[in-house]
Amino acid sequence: MRTMQRTYAPATTSPPARDPRIGAHVHRFSRTERLLHWWVVATFASALLTGVAMGDEVESGPLLQAHIAAVVLIGAGVVVALIFGNTMAVLRSTRDLFIFDRTDVACVVGSLRHPFHREPIRWGKFNIGQKFLAWSLLGAVAALIVTGINSWSAGGETAGPHAAAVVVSLVLLGAHVFMAILNPSTRPALPGMIFGRVSRSWAAKHHSKWLEAEDQKEARRHRTRV
Ligand code: HEM
Ligand code: HEM
Repeated sequence: MRTMQRTYAPATTSPPARDPRIGAHVHRFSRTERLLHWWVVATFASALLTGVAMGDEVESGPLLQAHIAAVVLIGAGVVVALIFGNTMAVLRSTRDLFIFDRTDVACVVGSLRHPFHREPIRWGKFNIGQKFLAWSLLGAVAALIVTGINSWSAGGETAGPHAAAVVVSLVLLGAHVFMAILNPSTRPALPGMIFGRVSRSWAAKHHSKWLEAEDQKEARRHRTRV
């Protein structure tokens, strides 16, 4: 009996034998994750704009209120997504994004041992760069909140640390947006955050371990249906 072999080699090698049940795309983010991401983008941008409009004029009441409301709405979005949305999808992606695994350790050890020789790595849902960026962003947002509250309670007298936290966050987000929109090898991820799916060829090249796990899950689901 002939069995269908699915391969996860990078797309630059010969095309993989494809199971006819599988399309050209693979599901990457649930609707809840996408809505939450764009909600965070909108509310973070509002915090940034109201902050810039306010400048050092902390007395300007409505702007300060709008500034703080924007930050509260970031957190409210997370809570609403966890309670009313696809909780498991959000939690699974959060775990995949924040937990370093054996692949990450092997990547660091490999680059220390052979700094000029890069082996192709079979990444899971997120690569080590995305994980570092996620931890850094979390730290930057925490710093924004702590320094913001500090500046607020001091009537704008201690604005320096808050301004520094703003600059650090913008540098990190600049890198993130560059990867998402401009960098040719990573921008094919954008449809994943808009429509929920990415091309299989891109996933096979950049997140082959994740793609393999998704296919195994799909095959299990298919078996339990028939
Ligand atoms: C996502 C989180 C936040 C972002 C992106 C943000 C952004 C900004 C920006 C761009 C400014 C003007 C530039 C400057 O620092 O001088 C500012 C000012 C200010 N922010 Fe925030 N902020 C955030 C969170 C908060 C929080 C949680 C509070 C207080 C509860 C706060 C209170 C203030 C105050 C009082 C000012 C005016 C005085 C100062 O510049 O420190 N911010 N913010
Ligand atoms: C216009 C602005 C933005 C664009 C175009 C954008 C785009 C994207 C895309 C395409 C992904 C999916 C990456 C993948 O499939 O691996 C993603 C993921 C993510 N985004 Fe954004 N994003 C933007 C702004 C933001 C902001 C403001 C934040 C947080 C303050 C943020 C936080 C995240 C996080 C934590 C992830 C998951 C991990 C990662 O891929 O880095 N994004 N974004």
